[in-house]
Amino acid sequence: MAQSAFPRIESGIPGLDEMIEGGFPFPSVILVAGSAGSGKTTFAQKFLFAGAEKGEQGLFFSTLSEPAQWMLRYAAQFEFVKPEYYGKEVIYCDLGTLLRKCTGQELLDYIDQKVAEVMPQRIVIDPITVVGTMMKDDYRVFAFDLTTHLKNWQATTLLTGEARPGEMYPAEMSYAVDGVILLMLSDEGDARRKYVEVLKMRGTNHLTGKQSVDITRKDGVIVLKARF
Ligand SMILES: Nc1ncnc2c1ncn2[C@@H]1O[C@H](COP(=O)(O)OP(=O)(O)OP(=O)(O)O)[C@@H](O)[C@H]1O
Ligand SMILES: [Mg+2]
Repeated sequence: MAQSAFPRIESGIPGLDEMIEGGFPFPSVILVAGSAGSGKTTFAQKFLFAGAEKGEQGLFFSTLSEPAQWMLRYAAQFEFVKPEYYGKEVIYCDLGTLLRKCTGQELLDYIDQKVAEVMPQRIVIDPITVVGTMMKDDYRVFAFDLTTHLKNWQATTLLTGEARPGEMYPAEMSYAVDGVILLMLSDEGDARRKYVEVLKMRGTNHLTGKQSVDITRKDGVIVLKARF
């Protein structure tokens, strides 16, 4: 594949960068969409910890108001999640409490303030779809405002989103972002196989079609060579 004209940031997901010309465009905002339990949070955490390994700063916004320790209990089973990075290269920030009472503008201001403080190269908001259900304002307008704000920073952001029944990915957000990566569980049989598909990646000659993925304790989400 020809070398891409955009600066790239490695995804940290084994096998994925080969599908997207070496990594995510930098800066950019990428939606990691998919079904419940398909590995979205694991994907996003690996993105941050892979950056941390290279000395890059990461910022993880959680929208679920679960205490960080609770999420970290699940995360701790993965070998790539190294506790020594917590609070340093990987910073957690809970948006859940604020989300319950703020406007879209107040949320954007808070995110901007936190990003300015931490100055990360890698940002995660997990999951972004919760914001849509809580927000009184127009979610589609918010989606554009959020991506515009995030792209003004020198960072690549992953937003994770759960699709509503009957749709493949959260539509409002997918228009606003630079890339959409779909993580899905197949519903056929009892094998519960997983796959990844790059639906959109601006400026990138990306692979199309479904690739099989696996989740391992060592590396988290990995893309297999096999087509799905
Ligand atoms: N050690 C492991 N080995 C293999 N697979 C695992 C392991 N730990 C978790 N998984 C798989 O990862 C899935 C959960 O991943 P994750 O929490 O990242 O998904 P998610 O898409 O964020 O889920 P949710 O929709 O609940 O937010 C589990 O359902 C399981 O299939
Ligand atoms: Mg999750």
